[in-house]
Amino acid sequence: RKVSLTGIKPTGDPHIGNLIGAIRPALSLVEEHDSIYFIADYHALTTIRDPEKVREYTRSVAATWMAAGLDTERTIFYRQSDVPETFELAWVLSCLTGKGLMNRAHAYKAIRDRNAEAGRDDLDSGVNMGLYNYPILMAADILLMNSDLVPVGRDQTQHVEIAADIAGSFNHHYGASFRFHVPKAVVPEAEAGRTLPGTDGRKMSKSYDNTIPLFLPEPKLRKLIRRIPTDSVPVEEPKDPDSSPVFRILEQFADAETVAETRKRLEAGGVGWGELKNQLFEVLNEQLRDLRARYEELMAPGSELDRALAEGAEKARRRARPLLDQVRAAVGM
Ligand code: TYM
Repeated sequence: RKVSLTGIKPTGDPHIGNLIGAIRPALSLVEEHDSIYFIADYHALTTIRDPEKVREYTRSVAATWMAAGLDTERTIFYRQSDVPETFELAWVLSCLTGKGLMNRAHAYKAIRDRNAEAGRDDLDSGVNMGLYNYPILMAADILLMNSDLVPVGRDQTQHVEIAADIAGSFNHHYGASFRFHVPKAVVPEAEAGRTLPGTDGRKMSKSYDNTIPLFLPEPKLRKLIRRIPTDSVPVEEPKDPDSSPVFRILEQFADAETVAETRKRLEAGGVGWGELKNQLFEVLNEQLRDLRARYEELMAPGSELDRALAEGAEKARRRARPLLDQVRAAVGM
């Protein structure tokens, strides 16, 4: 069986982009793959300095996975920080990774571009080494479990390609004694080529503060949806569904028939954006209601969550150890 692995970084409350881009696709692979899903808590340190926040978001991401249906018996589910083998492998991989490859990573380049725009002399201002090395740690997550498939949203595909490059480099040098599987990103089909938009129309992202968190009280959810930008085409005129963030979110949550019908009604004219937003609220609220109830149970102190993570850590380490031993032997330790 092939191995499917993915992680989510606890840098904020989980949002519908995480659900659509990673959690649902990952859960759909459980049946036919060895599935390994984790919370990338050490990755969060590149941006979060408040230990309480890191703890809170870590539980919240874990509870979200479990509320969405992750079965901890049939998967390996853990906190990255509970598997120190990851960090040992990260060092080995960093010695095989050209600095130029890291220079091309999107997240790093984005900060440099922002600094250039702001007219700063130091383009690396605000970049810590954790952020710079981020893709190597992610490669270690992926390769430690000898993963084949990595279900992620479009924004993470470059990172998976970097992991594949690093695997290739290891295999080239040490392939006679040990070879990694070369991982591939799996991007949800409906989403190929575009990420789920947020409440300002840009990519939904914790770093843009434009997310629709999964677990909001109803009035807040309604208010956020009202904030999503729309064009000024009058109610009676035909509208382009695909250029509307409201429609694109609806598309991911409503059933196929409703989506097709709504598309037709928008294209025909006579439907206002306000009405479309009400429809999105109803659909989202309906779908998230059960999820929310289960999430609240899991977040309560003493719930099964902590035990599940402890057991997951054991399973993950049992799997990682023999692989790491082979890597150590291959490189000469
Ligand atoms: P993170 O925490 O930013 O996002 C988690 C997952 O959610 C997806 N996602 C989206 N998908 C569609 N539309 C959006 N607007 C949207 N926003 C987020 C992301 O693509 C991702 O799949 N570096 C990773 C965490 C990580 C990881 C790994 C992933 C660490 N190690 C190993 C896979 C394998 C990250 O920051 O994801």
